[in-house]
Amino acid sequence: MEDLVYVENVNKTHEIHKGNDVYALDLVNFSIKKGELFCILGPSGCGKTTLLNIMAGFEKPTSGKVIINGKEVTKPNPNYITMFQEYCLFSWRTVLENVTFGLEIKGIPKLKRENIAKKYIKMVHLEGFENKYPSQLSGGMQRRVAIARTLAVNPDIIFMDEPFAGLDAFTKARMENELIDILAKEGKTIVLITHDIDTALALADRIMILSYRPGKIKKIINVDLERPREKTNAKRLPIEKEILSEFKL
Ligand SMILES: Nc1ncnc2c1ncn2[C@@H]1O[C@H](COP(=O)(O)OP(=O)(O)OP(=O)(O)O)[C@@H](O)[C@H]1O
Ligand SMILES: [Mg+2]
Repeated sequence: MEDLVYVENVNKTHEIHKGNDVYALDLVNFSIKKGELFCILGPSGCGKTTLLNIMAGFEKPTSGKVIINGKEVTKPNPNYITMFQEYCLFSWRTVLENVTFGLEIKGIPKLKRENIAKKYIKMVHLEGFENKYPSQLSGGMQRRVAIARTLAVNPDIIFMDEPFAGLDAFTKARMENELIDILAKEGKTIVLITHDIDTALALADRIMILSYRPGKIKKIINVDLERPREKTNAKRLPIEKEILSEFKL
């Protein structure tokens, strides 16, 4: 089967000012299959967000290119949605109004968009909170609103930048399980960035490990395990060891 996303020889130097440029990515070359959850794993500052921004069309590579659905990416595309590292809900809109936002932009009528939004609010277990404002929700609940808002517009690809960063271990585990359920139901192509080995092992079909700056591909690992994946699963341990050995921990 043809792959959906091709990243071809992407290099990126952030030009700050003379002599202070940051060489962020070095010859990154890989492809992503339709329907897979592809995880990009690497230490802070290794260029993960830079790579995601290039794939989603928010930044241009210094050289190389990204091809999605047979077309070179030159600008953001509404069919490829990004959930940013600093996810931002609209503080003046309720949960329901946040989730309907993208549908409103698409011109979907009020009743229909509210029905779609309610389906996703239910999926992330926020029924009963439709009329609350973001400031009335916990951090984990706000992230779930952001996930519902992302799914509601039915994008072809979802780019997620550290969607669970800063959440406590319980909330994180619950949200990972929710994402697994959603994946099983919706079969989306997801590119997920994380520096958390457990998150990568819980969710990914494949894990791409980037080295520290400039980000180079160290390895792409297949995670051929059924979900949900228990930490004690004997087949998980060797994969975890393989990842840790790449970080020399
Ligand atoms: N707009 C920019 N201008 C200049 N330098 C930048 C810019 N964006 C990122 N960088 C630099 O590029 C490098 C990679 O940054 P990036 O944000 O991609 O890392 P990251 O892997 O996402 O890190 P984290 O896990 O902390 O989010 C860093 O050294 C950073 O300082
Ligand atoms: Mg980042």
